[in-house]
Amino acid sequence: MRTFEDLRWPAADMTRIPFAAYRERAIYEQEQERIFRGRTWNYLALEAEVPDPGSYVTSYLGDTPVVVSRDADGQLHAFVNRCAHRGAIVRREAQGQANEHVCCYHQWTYNLQGDLIAVPFRRGVKGKGGLPPDFDTARHSLRKLRVQSYSGAIFGTLSPDVEPLEDYLDEPMCAQLERLLHKPVRVLGYQRQVVHGNWKLYADNLRDPNHGGLLHMFQITFGIARLSNWGGARMDRRHRHNISFTAESTATLGKDDYQQTSRGDGQIKLENAAMLHYRPEFPDPMSLSIMSIFPNVVFHQIGNSLATRQIRTRSESEFEIYWTYYGYPDDDESMTEHRLQQANLAGPGGYISMEDGEAIELVHKALVREQDAYSFVEIGGRGEPADQDTLVTEVPMRGFWMAWRELMSTPSTPQERP
Ligand SMILES: [Fe+2]
Repeated sequence: MRTFEDLRWPAADMTRIPFAAYRERAIYEQEQERIFRGRTWNYLALEAEVPDPGSYVTSYLGDTPVVVSRDADGQLHAFVNRCAHRGAIVRREAQGQANEHVCCYHQWTYNLQGDLIAVPFRRGVKGKGGLPPDFDTARHSLRKLRVQSYSGAIFGTLSPDVEPLEDYLDEPMCAQLERLLHKPVRVLGYQRQVVHGNWKLYADNLRDPNHGGLLHMFQITFGIARLSNWGGARMDRRHRHNISFTAESTATLGKDDYQQTSRGDGQIKLENAAMLHYRPEFPDPMSLSIMSIFPNVVFHQIGNSLATRQIRTRSESEFEIYWTYYGYPDDDESMTEHRLQQANLAGPGGYISMEDGEAIELVHKALVREQDAYSFVEIGGRGEPADQDTLVTEVPMRGFWMAWRELMSTPSTPQERP
């Protein structure tokens, strides 16, 4: 079984990716420690999901279950969702409201900060049983994450020494978060999708605007995004993150042509073209923007459909995409309806995203053997990654791999307490 240390990298600019990086269980295990539980900030939830004192939401750091909890003073906390007693999941609900967090197995009880406050029959019954007299509740809290919000998006880390969140996100990601979350948001709903492939194939997919105008026939056919559109990709200074963006109707078609548009034979028409229409709501022309923040989240704007997609890894061969759709509290009814209609563009059966899951599984299946081979990543050019003013590019993918390789090369400091 190969580990990260066994991988060979023939091109420093990451124009070749070893297939073994996607299929080895040992590498997946290393990723959990060095990436998700290492020196990264991981997206956990939106503040709108934990609006009040006592609100909580369950989330993930890679495959580590986590609870995000707002305490009575309104402060946010996050802790590993694993009882300090015998390790059971403490919070099994997706979200809710509580005065404390109680493990159902033996009812060890934690406050909203994750501190142990009660153990049933701690002194036993009639002097028999129970815990030793020197048991100290303070030593048995839930394992805490550092947690920080940016513009209403909550991030957490187990790393004692990762840089501050704002430096980690960098520009233009901070500006894009402020753009999308420029006022409080209202969650409209969720979708979940299990993909039978390695999570990094999804990271690749998200940093490859080139496929958007080739794989996704719906958006080509109806003009949402074509490779001939105005658009490109913007990265942070270290090229870990990426925003791929475009604007509708900047190629050969005008908005009013959509209904008549077909793949050239005039046979494919939409009954309801309203779901294609972008109602401008930001002070820039972007009508489609896919921001991927290393390692585990996407903030998408597809027309007026706004959502986060959290990547929850399960194994080297499986991950879940957890989609959170949102709008703004001051949207009128018609705008909410429009956002919900456009939500059909994405998600597991989305008109312009169902092919992504399939494409990832096609790759993952084919990578079962010949793991000494490499993927070929030269669209958009070689060398140091740089911002792109074209959609015919996969350069941001190489930025992801540089970040991945750098983090994997640095085993993180041991964090487990005795
Ligand atoms: Fe796609």
